[in-house]
Amino acid sequence: MELSVNKVDEQFSLFPGTRYMGSKNKIVSKIGSILLPYQRDSFFDAFAGSNVIAYYMKTAGKRVETNDFMAISYIVSKAIIENSTERLSPKEVAFIVDNKNDNTFIAEKFYDLYFEREENEFLDRARANIESLKNPYKKAIALAALVRACMKKRPRGIFTFVGHRYDDGRADIRKTLKEHFTESVTLFNDAVFDNGQACTARNEKTETTQTDCGMVYLDPPYFTPNSDNDYVRRYHFVEGLVRNWESLEIQEHTLTKKFKSFPSPFSNRQQAHKAFEDLIDNFKKSVIAISYSSNSLPTRDELQAMLKRHKKKVVVHEIDHLYSFGNQNHKIGNPSNRVKEYLFVGS
Ligand SMILES: C[S@@+](CC[C@H](N)C(=O)[O-])C[C@H]1O[C@@H](n2cnc3c(N)ncnc32)[C@H](O)[C@@H]1O
Repeated sequence: MELSVNKVDEQFSLFPGTRYMGSKNKIVSKIGSILLPYQRDSFFDAFAGSNVIAYYMKTAGKRVETNDFMAISYIVSKAIIENSTERLSPKEVAFIVDNKNDNTFIAEKFYDLYFEREENEFLDRARANIESLKNPYKKAIALAALVRACMKKRPRGIFTFVGHRYDDGRADIRKTLKEHFTESVTLFNDAVFDNGQACTARNEKTETTQTDCGMVYLDPPYFTPNSDNDYVRRYHFVEGLVRNWESLEIQEHTLTKKFKSFPSPFSNRQQAHKAFEDLIDNFKKSVIAISYSSNSLPTRDELQAMLKRHKKKVVVHEIDHLYSFGNQNHKIGNPSNRVKEYLFVGS
C-alpha cells in the first residue's frame, strides 16, 4: 500500500527517536530520496540499529525485513516494523508498572551502578511482569519502551561508566523510569501502523543470514582506528535487560558488570575486508546500498571495487553529515572532524 507524500511524512514523524550510536536519523530523508527511485518492492535493512531507515521504508510502502544481532534493535523492529496492529492497553501498562513480584536480580547485581534503589526495583518488577505477557508484539513494545526509558534517564544514554558522571541535570535525568516508560509506551503504540505488507524482524548475525528482498541496505559498524563501535560495551545493561541476562556471562571483575561483546567481523581491522566481500557476494542478486563514512576500513576505493565485481552500475553519492556523538573524532564545532558520509548503490 503506497501512502501519499504527506501521509509518509506524517507517519514517519511518529518514529520514536533514540540516541542509538551510528543512527542515520539526521540523513534518513536524503538516503530515502536516493534509494526510492530504484523502485524495489522489498527492502532488507541488514544492520537495522535504531530502525530509523527500516521505518522510513515501511512508511514508503515497502515489504521490509530487518536484522541486527543486538536484541535492543530487534525488539524495536518487532514492535513497529513487523507489528502492524497490536498496542499495549492502559490496563496492561498498569499491570507492568504496579504488579508486585519477587524479582530482585537488578537491585542486587547492579546495586549503586546506574540507577537508584527504587529505580532498580521498578526495573525488576516491570521486567518480570513483561515476561508474563503472552502476545509477542505487546511484549516487544513493552521491552522497547523499557529500554528507551533506561537510555533516556542515563547521562549520554550509555552504560560505559557507573554513577552519575556527565549528569547535566537534564529533565530526562530527573524524571523517574516509570514516567519515561509510560511516555515511551505511548510513543511506540502511536508508531504502530499497517502498510499492507508482511514485514519481518530477525535477530541474527548478518554474515549468515539470507534474503530475497529486491534491495539490501548495509550499514555495519565500520572499523576506524580511533572510534569505539562496540555496541555491547555501550549498551550492555539494556541488552542484558531485554535478554534477561540469559546465556550472557557477566564479567564480574568489571566495574560496569558488562558481559562479553558479541564478536563482529565488520569492526575488526583484520576481518573487515573479507567480511565485506562475503556480504556483497551473499546479496549480489539484490540492489545493494551501502552507507559508508570516509575514515573507515575498507577504504572507499576498495569497497567500490568489491561492488563493481558483481554489479553493472555503481554510483557513489556523497552526503554532507556531521556526527554529533559516538566517536571521539567527530566532535561538534571542529571542522577538521568533518567526516564524509557516502551512500554506494550497486545495481
Ligand atoms: C551503524 S549501526 C546501524 C545504524 C542504523 N542504520 C540506524 O540508522 O540506526 C550498526 C548496527 O550493526 C549491528 N551489527 C554489528 N555487527 C553485526 C553482525 N555481525 N550481525 C548483525 N548485526 C550487527 C549493531 O548491533 C548495530 O546496531
